[in-house]
Amino acid sequence: MELSKIGLCLGFLFFVFLHGVLADCSTATRKVHRYNFSLRETSFTRLCTTKRMLTVNGQWPGPKIQVCKGDTAFVHVHNAGKYGVTIHWHGVKQPRNPWSDGPENVTQCPIQPGKSFTYEVTFSDEEGTVWWHAHSDWSRATVHGAIVVLPSNGTTYPFRKPDAEKVLVLGEWYNGDLKEIIYNATETGAAPVESNAYTINGQPGFPNKCSKETTYRLRVQHGKTYLIRLINAVMNEEMFFGIANHTLRVVAQDGAYIKPITTNYIMTSPGQTMDILITANQPPSYYYIAASPFFDAGSIATYDSSNTSAILEYTGIFAPPASPPYPSLPNIRDRAAADKFTNRIRALASRAHPINVPKKIDKKLFMTVSLNQILCPGATCGGPDGNRLSSSLNNISFATSTIDILQAYYRSLPGVFTKDFPDRPPYVFNYTGDVGNNTLYTYQGTNVTMINYGAAVEIVFQGTNVESGEFHPMHLHGYSFYSVGTGYGNYDETTSPKTYNLKDPPEVNTVGLPRNGWVAIRFIANNPGVWFLHCHLERHASWGMGTVLIVKNGPTKETSIRPPPPNMPRCSN
Ligand code: C2O
Ligand code: CU
Repeated sequence: MELSKIGLCLGFLFFVFLHGVLADCSTATRKVHRYNFSLRETSFTRLCTTKRMLTVNGQWPGPKIQVCKGDTAFVHVHNAGKYGVTIHWHGVKQPRNPWSDGPENVTQCPIQPGKSFTYEVTFSDEEGTVWWHAHSDWSRATVHGAIVVLPSNGTTYPFRKPDAEKVLVLGEWYNGDLKEIIYNATETGAAPVESNAYTINGQPGFPNKCSKETTYRLRVQHGKTYLIRLINAVMNEEMFFGIANHTLRVVAQDGAYIKPITTNYIMTSPGQTMDILITANQPPSYYYIAASPFFDAGSIATYDSSNTSAILEYTGIFAPPASPPYPSLPNIRDRAAADKFTNRIRALASRAHPINVPKKIDKKLFMTVSLNQILCPGATCGGPDGNRLSSSLNNISFATSTIDILQAYYRSLPGVFTKDFPDRPPYVFNYTGDVGNNTLYTYQGTNVTMINYGAAVEIVFQGTNVESGEFHPMHLHGYSFYSVGTGYGNYDETTSPKTYNLKDPPEVNTVGLPRNGWVAIRFIANNPGVWFLHCHLERHASWGMGTVLIVKNGPTKETSIRPPPPNMPRCSN
């Protein structure tokens, strides 16, 4: 063999070797990964409707990022689309580096068409599944993808290694243009239209129209065990999920391990991820994988009530069934079924995966979470009572600033935000009772909460019955937190804390606030930065159900925000 051919062979072997390392973290340390994201309009057909929509690299769901715990990924984003966009790395804490976190006008201005920005995605203690999505208007409906974080070199899963891993992304398909949908809603003050179908890996599946041939198929081999990494990228509804005749074993949530839960269905909120083991132990055939909405809200709220499905398809020879079995999922209003699953979730809290729940609290925040109205002159708007729909935390509807809050904070630019977000609701009333017109009309502002570095923080989210009591998945950037307690009705200072679980509460980045109930979370503010906190229902977030926590620098360089990278996207004004 000629020398050059030997070189080629060696090169090829080295290539295979490197990719082996990337896939399982088992040998050498490869700490830096590079990805290229090209944002562009791509043509897609679903439900017999063709439209152009914004995607990354022409894919929906977008490309998967795979790293080992503690690695770094540089993601070069080029915007070849028509509008400014940002990308958020949902569930990645980005220690000291809010510059790469992504929420538009909170930590950066958008990447304008024709421009690029390289995100430095810094992984720390996340392990399991997190994800990425656009964080500008409603672009996240089509711009999202999985992030898989494998155990680092020398460590393993806290369960028997699965034979293979699969990503399933739950999403929503809209026949219309997303930009128009949110624009129309903002113009009229009415609720945005609902989606036309839910999707599994971009496919509506049976029984949606024109979807039979394109249904996503998850191929399994009899006797093997699979780790399903399920991401809820749905815009506006919580979802039930199940697989006909197969038991689910849930082992992780939001990039942290939990005590395994064996169940026939799960409930997952937008923003959450669940890692689920399944064993292909049924007679080789086809079985439906399905998801259906869970919607706990009053009558004014509308929703997409359809189901989406994929097919669990065994390899081998068998006569395909005329109608494969379909999983039985709880009813759309079945709050008891949703709670039954959620209340079983406990942190793994093992020696290899310890937890650290703050016991003594330095900073307490009590926040009402409400839907509201903004008065419309002459009652000519499209929302209830001729007014505009709105939403708030402590009766402040978050108003997006024109330049990002992070920059304004870092450079001490005045007039962008105020540091006076209230620690308690400005009005005290029976939040979950007959609320009348209490706080129906909300105030708009860019008010933030300042938190000292290292403080032990507790936030109690109190759902209210103002306008319409609804379920809210609350999400915090820059952190994961312990969900220590929850209940229905009003939070009670004396009795509610007695029900807390401080032993093994789930460590999550998105928590479900039950309709007309409360949920308490705790964390140590050890990540300095400007961090968005908001409801992950896009409808509510667009109306202002968000706020910002600024965690101040600690005493050293290692406890302070890093300097901004060069080439941050420029703010136009
Ligand atoms: Cu997944 Cu601020 O969001
Ligand atoms: Cu909400």
